[in-house]
Amino acid sequence: MPDKSIFEELKEKGVSRRDFMKLCGTVAGAIGLTYLPPVKLNGASAKLGRSYKPAALVAKALATKSRLPVIWLEFQDCAGCSEALTRSQSPTLVDLVLNQITVEYHETLSAAAGFQADDAKMAAMKKYAGKYVLVIEGSVSPKDGGVYCTIGGKSSLALLQEAAAGAAAIIATGNCAAFGGLPKANPNPTGAVSVSEALPGKTILNIPGCPAIPEVFTGTLAHFLIFGTLPELDQLNRPKTFYGNTIHDRCLRRPFYEAGKFASSFDDEGAKQGYCLYKLGCKGPTTYNACASLKWCGGLSFPVQSGHPCLGCSEPNFWDGGGFYQGQSAPLDRPALVTAGAALATGAVIGAGAAAANHAQKKTAEHDEKKEK
Ligand code: SF4
Ligand code: F3S
Repeated sequence: MPDKSIFEELKEKGVSRRDFMKLCGTVAGAIGLTYLPPVKLNGASAKLGRSYKPAALVAKALATKSRLPVIWLEFQDCAGCSEALTRSQSPTLVDLVLNQITVEYHETLSAAAGFQADDAKMAAMKKYAGKYVLVIEGSVSPKDGGVYCTIGGKSSLALLQEAAAGAAAIIATGNCAAFGGLPKANPNPTGAVSVSEALPGKTILNIPGCPAIPEVFTGTLAHFLIFGTLPELDQLNRPKTFYGNTIHDRCLRRPFYEAGKFASSFDDEGAKQGYCLYKLGCKGPTTYNACASLKWCGGLSFPVQSGHPCLGCSEPNFWDGGGFYQGQSAPLDRPALVTAGAALATGAVIGAGAAAANHAQKKTAEHDEKKEK
């Protein structure tokens, strides 16, 4: 691990103290740090310790800490989370954080390949034992001895267990690693499981999404870098700072939802007027993620703003959860949906297209019922 502090390294690259403080403010904002008041104990009026403004707290940490070693493994994935991160449009935050970690091993980004890359990974795991952050992208496949996903002759489960043993923290990035994602969708031929399922008993920090929002990933990593601990997590082990609100909570179409104005097709007058997309299957009311506030592409837009319903990509059962364009996430149209599902189930509609719709509707109703239980 480099001996220099992060600030010393930045200084050598020509970053001034003033710019450094600006960057610290960016990081503090990204990880949701607020002003920390002076500590008081048992109601005592005396101030114990100093108060910190968020940027100063980040600066203090970065001025003393050295870079964070990261080992990044990919299993059953499309590399979309890595792609999103490397193509992020917000260089100040992402560059800052990525410059402050040393990626010791990454299957997509690594210049080395084959045995050379594998040797580098083993050496890094030994050198930084107990100190590195392990990032997993993609689901794990333990079925049939792990034959469906092997790298260098080792199964994904064996590789995960090997790397997890010496990790200071484990992050599952993207829906596939966090909840199984597309590989786990019915009929799940490879027996795909999430990292949490593959490593029972270990605390796994989940950053779900398809892909994960780059700023959410880097913000979470920045928290670990600065405090040496995981941020506060929700019941699905997602950082509360980023997953504390639903898409619906912050949606710019929300006034139309409240007013009962819905688009009924993708090209009707309602869609043109920017009406709520709930009736087109928007799962924003039950999807916790930061898209509506952080947005994508440097804050430019996010799916719902661009005219597409939220698909619920940061939630478990994302692919099998009722079909993309069937409303299923909140009770607004539930009676109508269940009635439609029942009608289809009794064979009221015949034909191949109808059979597909029938299946999807049944799934929707089953999913709704499960959610209600
Ligand atoms: Fe926005 Fe979807 Fe909620 Fe409508 S249902 S307000 S489009 S999140
Ligand atoms: Fe995913 Fe919905 Fe955001 S589909 S990208 S959580 S708006």
